[in-house]
Amino acid sequence: MDRPFLDLPPCGSLRGVLRGPGDKSVTHRGLMLLALAEGEGRLLYPLKAGDTLSTARVLRALGAEIVEEGPHFLVRGRGLRLKEPEDVLDCGNAGTLIRLLLGLLAGQEGLFAVLTGDASLRRRPMGRVVEPLRAMGARVDGRERGEKAPLAVRGQALRGIRYSLPVPSAQVKSALLLAGLFAEGMTEVEEPLPTRDHTERLFRHFGLPLWVEENRIRTQRTGPFPAKDLVVPGDFSSAAFFLVAALLAPGSEVVVEGVGLNPTRTGLLRVLRSMGADLEWQVLEGEAGEPVGWVRARYSPLKGVSVDPSLIPLMVDEVPILAAAAAWAEGETHIPGLSELRVKESDRLSAIARNLRALGVEVEEGPDWLRIRGGGVRPGEVEPFHDHRIAMAFAVAGLPVGVRVWDPEWAEISYPGFFQDLKGLCAAS
Ligand code: S3P
Repeated sequence: MDRPFLDLPPCGSLRGVLRGPGDKSVTHRGLMLLALAEGEGRLLYPLKAGDTLSTARVLRALGAEIVEEGPHFLVRGRGLRLKEPEDVLDCGNAGTLIRLLLGLLAGQEGLFAVLTGDASLRRRPMGRVVEPLRAMGARVDGRERGEKAPLAVRGQALRGIRYSLPVPSAQVKSALLLAGLFAEGMTEVEEPLPTRDHTERLFRHFGLPLWVEENRIRTQRTGPFPAKDLVVPGDFSSAAFFLVAALLAPGSEVVVEGVGLNPTRTGLLRVLRSMGADLEWQVLEGEAGEPVGWVRARYSPLKGVSVDPSLIPLMVDEVPILAAAAAWAEGETHIPGLSELRVKESDRLSAIARNLRALGVEVEEGPDWLRIRGGGVRPGEVEPFHDHRIAMAFAVAGLPVGVRVWDPEWAEISYPGFFQDLKGLCAAS
């Protein structure tokens, strides 16, 4: 079969205003919590893309009613008790879905479910969630004794634990907090470094038990709670591709509106500014406890930097697009603290290094770091390695000189219409 590709011609400059798609993390969580709530609630402006449509499909199989109302979702929740699914639950490519779902199902007493996903998801580590859930009393089994999907869960009575996360992971933290809603006693999660806090903010939105003290987050068993409408902010991780595209092409100016500016997500803005980026942003309002506003990026000659590793969890999905910016910067950029990138949708460390080389950039790949020698890229071909963010990041890296992107449809996992939006902003210049 012929393999699909997309040729992007060189883009002189990008100009215009963009309202990107809804936030993926908030959409997953919003759907799950509305599925547990009592009565009807709307998820307004959610992300409707591969990953979050998997979440809607799985929650329907667990008995929630989810209907599309124009751009929104109307959800009729189950009031804490989910229905036993009749078939295997296919989580597709979505790590957030499978990991949070393990937490959600662990305490559904008696309910049996099997969770699986695509080839990429079945390679990803699940023990980081399964192990602490077992300590809470969960019954989970799976390939490699529960390290890999398919995973089978039989809901049990749970008890709260105190758990110190061995790796900074919002997915693990969130799975344990969701399980904690069904557990006897207190569930406490301690983070080594701050990670995205959407679950905590949504617990507050829905009035669920939550206490945060420094790096310790606690919850306990909840009673039934009513549904409540929820507005999903724009996804900063999707906006990031256009902000960097504007920084790279002379004469560019792009404004992204309605974008989530939660400080646990925007580490990239700090790093890009330290590279000399002309970036401005403003928080205008809060929706469901999430700060929302606009960001403006103008073309800027960038210089290489050494990135502070404690910022990585605050920009964990933006490392591919930071690598694209580093390829155009003057001098070297060193990005440490990247061990988690090995276990994302692809081995992103190696996917970044290989695509940079394919575009003529000198790069050194360590076990958990990258050193990128900037100076610009030459026209070439981008290999997504079945990973949406790799496809989009390296489309942007090659955009000023023209680039071929293989399997461009991977972008639809988090951003349907990405290439149309990119071409639209180029054409407007
Ligand atoms: C996510 C957390 C991050 C991130 C992923 C979404 C979430 O994963 O990479 O795309 O919604 O909680 P980890 O928690 O595994 O770092």
